[in-house]
Amino acid sequence: MFSEIKEGTTKIIVPEQLKRSMFYNPKMELCRDIDVASVSAFATALPSRQQPIYIDALAGSGVRGVRIANEVGMCVHINDRSTPAYELIKRNIALNSLEERACAYNENANILILQTRYEMVDLDPFGSPVPFLDAACKSVRRLLLVTATDTAPLCGAHTGGMRKYGAKPLNTDYHTEMATRVLLGAVTRDLCKYDKAIQPLLSYSTAHFIRIIARVERGAKRADACMNRLGFIAHCFACGNRCVCSDMLDLKRECTVCGAKVRIAGPLYLHAIKENAFCEQVHDELGKRELGKKSEAMKIVDTCIHELDIPYYFEHHAICKVLKIPPPPIASLIDALRSAGFHASRTHFSDVAVKTDARIDAIKDILMRL
Ligand SMILES: C[S@@+](CC[C@H](N)C(=O)[O-])C[C@H]1O[C@@H](n2cnc3c(N)ncnc32)[C@H](O)[C@@H]1O
Ligand SMILES: [Zn+2]
Repeated sequence: MFSEIKEGTTKIIVPEQLKRSMFYNPKMELCRDIDVASVSAFATALPSRQQPIYIDALAGSGVRGVRIANEVGMCVHINDRSTPAYELIKRNIALNSLEERACAYNENANILILQTRYEMVDLDPFGSPVPFLDAACKSVRRLLLVTATDTAPLCGAHTGGMRKYGAKPLNTDYHTEMATRVLLGAVTRDLCKYDKAIQPLLSYSTAHFIRIIARVERGAKRADACMNRLGFIAHCFACGNRCVCSDMLDLKRECTVCGAKVRIAGPLYLHAIKENAFCEQVHDELGKRELGKKSEAMKIVDTCIHELDIPYYFEHHAICKVLKIPPPPIASLIDALRSAGFHASRTHFSDVAVKTDARIDAIKDILMRL
């Protein structure tokens, strides 16, 4: 019924079949590898006298928290309200002889999180983190890690963006990034209520989840400044043009390229969603560790480092389809955009997309000449 596996350098007992009551998802190993490197990079910068407490609030088998205790050496609280999961967490702590550093809990996450001011709070729920965000934002002092797997409402593919996250996403070619920024916007607003600000360190998305890792800073002034990073994107579905605007009153209702009526997405977090110095440290940490998904993780972080801080990207395959031309290699498009004086980069959100400050009409011109 159970088997022993290894993730990183940690031994973990997991159910042989996928079970909701003792949840272990092997597909999230990549995410956990990046977490180990990120928490380690973050902890290195803390004063050495501190022994911060990290909470894995929705732990399932406990794999994430047990790995942080074992591979980073942190004091951790590992919690799940399911009793079979709690029993499994205790077994996994014992299996790695971590009793001095790791404590298992069998509580409702919101109640447990609110009982302590945790230095680091990790939310890895089924679906949406929204039911736990308020408590996490109230408790957290330094580092917040949040997963969302409810990508459909966050992307605008289903309804629910406004209801759950208080923001309207649009189902555009850059919907994955929009989802990440809707989530960051919701976290910003929840933190600001408690006079805290978010500083995203590494935000990324793969096929089925979004993960944000963010430093939390305290102070009403910082929180106010952080709120000013929220804004809107006006998107034209007729020609693909998009414009960023921090004040809704300044938004133009007509497309500045083709004159069609635009649609508005937001509020979204519009500033940088990663900090390059931190990502470099994470990349170094990944490089020197024994990890199952090392090369995949390093590729994501490396692409994030080189990604422009522009809140959208252009799927060049989709544009070429409209233009009825074969898509050029992405590297050629990036070179051509740079030669024409624009900034351009790849994005980890999509292998067939570019980030650029060029407008859609300029991109189309360049594609037609390639
Ligand atoms: C996606 S799983 C966690 C996976 C785990 N973090 C990992 O890395 O493998 C979500 C877990 O949250 C637990 N859960 C759901 N609601 C909860 C609540 N209110 N309090 C505590 N645990 C809860 C579920 O029992 C489930 O084990
Ligand atoms: Zn237009």
